Amino acid sequence: MTTEPSTVYEPSSDTHTPLGTLHSEAARDHLWMHFTRHSVFEDHGEGGLGHSVPIITRGEGHKIWDDRGNEYIDGLAGLFVVQVGHGREELAEAAAKQAKELAFFPLWSYAHPRAIELAERLAAGAPGDLNRVFFTTGGGEAVETAWKLAKQYYKLTGKPTKHKVISRAVAYHGTPQGALSITGIPAAKEMFEPLVPGAFKVPNTNHYRAPEHLRDDEKAFGRWAADRIAEAIEFEGPDTVAAVFLEPVQNSGGCFPPPPGYFERVREICDEYDVLLVSDEVICSFGRIGSMFACDDFNYVPDIITCAKGMTSGYSPIGAMIASDRLFEPFKKGTTYFPHGYTFGGHPVSAAVAMANLDIFEREGLNQHVMDNAPKFRDTLERLLDLPIVGDVRGAGYFYGIELVKDKNTRETFNDDECERLLRGYLSKALFDAGLYCRADDRGDPVIQLAPPLIIGQPEFDDIESRLRSVLKDAEKHL
Ligand SMILES: Cc1ncc(COP(=O)(O)O)c(C=O)c1O
Repeated sequence: MTTEPSTVYEPSSDTHTPLGTLHSEAARDHLWMHFTRHSVFEDHGEGGLGHSVPIITRGEGHKIWDDRGNEYIDGLAGLFVVQVGHGREELAEAAAKQAKELAFFPLWSYAHPRAIELAERLAAGAPGDLNRVFFTTGGGEAVETAWKLAKQYYKLTGKPTKHKVISRAVAYHGTPQGALSITGIPAAKEMFEPLVPGAFKVPNTNHYRAPEHLRDDEKAFGRWAADRIAEAIEFEGPDTVAAVFLEPVQNSGGCFPPPPGYFERVREICDEYDVLLVSDEVICSFGRIGSMFACDDFNYVPDIITCAKGMTSGYSPIGAMIASDRLFEPFKKGTTYFPHGYTFGGHPVSAAVAMANLDIFEREGLNQHVMDNAPKFRDTLERLLDLPIVGDVRGAGYFYGIELVKDKNTRETFNDDECERLLRGYLSKALFDAGLYCRADDRGDPVIQLAPPLIIGQPEFDDIESRLRSVLKDAEKHL
């Protein structure tokens, strides 16, 4: 399960490390890239493909540049992260100011002003009584934290057997072993089994691949998909299930928005069985769909929100688990505490950057900008539906998946070999060559994922569409 652009790429001859090595060679020899098939960078003689590692050196707004000076549209905001765009000096300055004042202090029995201010601001922006913020350094840790809290909460409140979790097929929730158990992508998990036991999967909300009898009725499909959660709770035993982890719009598999009524029904089910609803908003929060927290975009109030990525627009790492007052209540008493933490959770520099980032959101009205422009983005991408290979365009806000199909009428998808030739053999490189950094992904059916910085508008939507069109119109020739 690799998702990297395996691009044929000539190294730049003039960028070197301090030790005098070409950056591309030092990358090949020393850097272990994430979810990356390294053979493509090895020499031909070693069985490799001899490709050079793509090196991105600079960003400004929605554009990035590589080490040869080539310009690209950042169609994925790095990795669903850079909401306010690249090159914002005020975020760099906020980081420098905080590093000078207090570079580091942990949140272990002590606090520092920026973590306090950020916790208060997140609580103010979160729905309902989600008022308690536990900081992490990223999304997977936030998911891990949420599962641990769910287990401890039920132990403290007289339901000690409630510990299992339910999540959806093909969903990605991170790589720590608990979060990986919650993840629904077998290829990401098989090398690390046995994982944390107690994680069960239900169908996702891929309407394009819904059971035939539900394809024409989105509401009925939503009801059907939500009821699979009730069924799983019944199968496992309500006394054993602690939480349901769902993204507002599921990323992996290619952007599955919730059908109408889905979250309303999920909330009912969670209340009925006393199971916590965790809204995993590592991608969807901070304006990606249009609101600060995406549960507001779909009108539900979870018990826990997990978030990360866009909180600082990536200028410094941070994540958070935001829990309801009810969940914190047992921790206010006696000797009880949450035996969990991270040295760098809520790092002062990251917290300061997050505050400055949220200032930009407010000053520039970024959430409103997304709400106003999302329908135009969708309309622009939907023009691609005239291409035979484009089966579906779906998503919400500034977050879209374009599913590629072999046969549009039957919705037949590609087999593994075809996917390999199409995504890795052609699309990743061709898109990059066309000046569009985005992601061709086959963790579910093959999709192109788009999640650009939130600052773009119609001219950039058109530009993205025309680059995609130029690449996709030739795609069939490469099967
Ligand atoms: C929904 C969701 N949860 C969790 C994670 C893990 O976040 P991180 O990579 O920051 O650990 C991701 C990462 O993409 C994600 O999309």
